[in-house]
Amino acid sequence: MAARKPKVIVTRKLPGPVETRMRELFNTELNDTDEPLSRAQLADALSRADVLAPTITDKIDAALLEKAGPQLKLIANFGVGIDHVDVAAANARGITVTNTPGVLTEDTADLTMALIMAVARRIVEGAEVTQAGGFHGWTPTWMMGHRITGKRLGIIGMGRIGQAVARRAKAFGLQIHYHNRKPVSPRIAEELEATYWDSLDQMLARMDIVSVHSPHTPATYHLLSARRLKLLQPHAILINTARGEIIDETALAELLRDGAIAGAGLDVFEFEPKINPKLLGLPNAVLLPHLGSATIEGRIDMGEKVIINIRTWMDGHKPPDRVIPSMM
Ligand code: DGY
Repeated sequence: MAARKPKVIVTRKLPGPVETRMRELFNTELNDTDEPLSRAQLADALSRADVLAPTITDKIDAALLEKAGPQLKLIANFGVGIDHVDVAAANARGITVTNTPGVLTEDTADLTMALIMAVARRIVEGAEVTQAGGFHGWTPTWMMGHRITGKRLGIIGMGRIGQAVARRAKAFGLQIHYHNRKPVSPRIAEELEATYWDSLDQMLARMDIVSVHSPHTPATYHLLSARRLKLLQPHAILINTARGEIIDETALAELLRDGAIAGAGLDVFEFEPKINPKLLGLPNAVLLPHLGSATIEGRIDMGEKVIINIRTWMDGHKPPDRVIPSMM
């Protein structure tokens, strides 16, 4: 007799090939509307599923986890960031939590470089002017940006994505600096010719470009506080493709408005999808709608990771991408 297929509830629309495979392998309930589930709908899903496959738009806190049925054993998140799930509370109820690390590293690093270039070379502004018929001929002084070759890039968080950014940035001729909980291995430091800063404050005050790549945890909430943002030099550019919560957006918007820093490229926001109104309309801010992992290939790879995690769990093994609270 075939083993019973686990009930897997998927909270958002996933790429077609991923949904098809999930339907083949599991007793899968999809969300064809792609509307985010309400809290009540999430509670209902937790009460019925053996496996919940949520994503970053689902807030699964300890109170919501109280609604989980005893059959719920796995939360297989579609995405690497896991700050929307109370992993410790889930684990305490015997629920394993997994994510999808690795497969969105290169895409996120590419988008980071795109933002660095967009801000430094005024690409969005130039495209808008041209589309609006405002290109009246080349001049020696019009629409000048800044060269990035030879500049100092300070990376906050030197995990997979931070290192992928560093590799690209080095190829662009940037000097790599970083702040991390601990230095990277000597082999990686040598490969990247990277300078480690134990003091974030000291690094911030000396960089031309700063890019955020740490996870959002209680320790990194508003890590770039108003006080720290003021340490940036007036010509500095700040990039964030990690999580909005890491930067005090109101303080950042004020510095951008006053020209106290040169520009920002933001792909993530504290209250997504709401954007801090102070950031809107600033000519020196390039804002994107959380596109870091938004490639067809990346999203299919993320789905495949979710499937591997569920299948490994079904086979009675520990899923490969278990999130351990102390790692966060
Ligand atoms: C993630 O997986 O956490 C990303 O932010 C989605 O792009």
